[in-house]
Amino acid sequence: MGVTASSTAPTSGSPATNESREAGGPLSRLPLPSIRLQKGLAVANLIAQVGIMTTGVTVRVTASGLGCETWPRCNEDSFVPVPGVAPALHQGVEFGNRLLTFVLTAVAVALLLAIYRAGRRRELKTLAWAMPAGILAQAVIGGITVLTGLVWWTVALHLLPSMILAWLAAVLLVRIGERDDAPARRVVPRPLTWLTWLSAVLLAGVLVLGTMVTGAGPHAGDARVEAADRLQWPIQWLVHFHAELTVGYLCLVVGLVLGLLALRAEGPAIRRGVVLIVMIVAQAILGVTQYQLGVPELLVVLHVTLAGAITAMTGAIWAAGVLRERVPA
Ligand code: HEM
Repeated sequence: MGVTASSTAPTSGSPATNESREAGGPLSRLPLPSIRLQKGLAVANLIAQVGIMTTGVTVRVTASGLGCETWPRCNEDSFVPVPGVAPALHQGVEFGNRLLTFVLTAVAVALLLAIYRAGRRRELKTLAWAMPAGILAQAVIGGITVLTGLVWWTVALHLLPSMILAWLAAVLLVRIGERDDAPARRVVPRPLTWLTWLSAVLLAGVLVLGTMVTGAGPHAGDARVEAADRLQWPIQWLVHFHAELTVGYLCLVVGLVLGLLALRAEGPAIRRGVVLIVMIVAQAILGVTQYQLGVPELLVVLHVTLAGAITAMTGAIWAAGVLRERVPA
């Protein structure tokens, strides 16, 4: 293999073993990605996974969900929008969101190739494979959502896998900066690790209830969605459950951070926990405000974007429980 500019930079944090571990075969034709490039791709992947939720919710609140009325084609006989078939704004927003799938895929594939080319450890490869697999699953679920005419629970099921992908993308970003050959050290004791799991479970509950609030709310995704396809439960109750579970989640995260402080936990867990608390409080203020104001579109977009960021931060805290020596950048 020829020496490239990047091959002199650390790639896996175990320079002594790089030569033996990096990929052979057709992949060896690719330049060896530096750790900085791998981290950059992992950051881009996380931004893309949260960003697609921002654009996805924009499709919903602008009522553009059926801007392309079928799937995988946009219209009966065209893969791209046909002028006049639907309002131009709806076509542009929905088709633009579909096109973003290709950007997401390109980033995910580049990250996967970089990890294989650098011969990184199996954990990273598994996390990286989850990205294209999840994007593929989301493309199919998105199609089902359109084909069923935006029934509320299909819209909910379309959002939630993206939250899982954001969580995994954050774990991957944390882990990619760690040496492959260094031993893993548990720095957060098991009982507190259980608390991080429990907080993730509560967050999942908050997210599911959020999608139910949306299912009963005014933003169905298209003016043609029928009442029978909406969740016919009183929205005030759902909002209350959603908000009360948020309070439970917040209390748990505060308890977790206090526990980490008491034990003087090593590493970034405490810092990330404090940032998460600030994010949850901001989300609660945003949530209450949007409810009081009759769910204005812009606030809903911010609410879902922040939900994605909160989910990613929950993943980063979980990942901070076990540390490896970091690769020098
Ligand atoms: C950690 C805290 C929270 C998270 C992670 C969160 C997350 C979410 C999610 C994922 C949705 C569904 C969006 C969609 O389906 O497109 C949602 C909807 C909603 N949330 Fe929250 N939420 C939180 C706290 C709150 C609080 C405290 C309130 C206050 C009442 C609130 C009010 C709402 C409302 C009104 C909706 C419906 C928006 C619509 O009609 O589209 N949220 N939330």
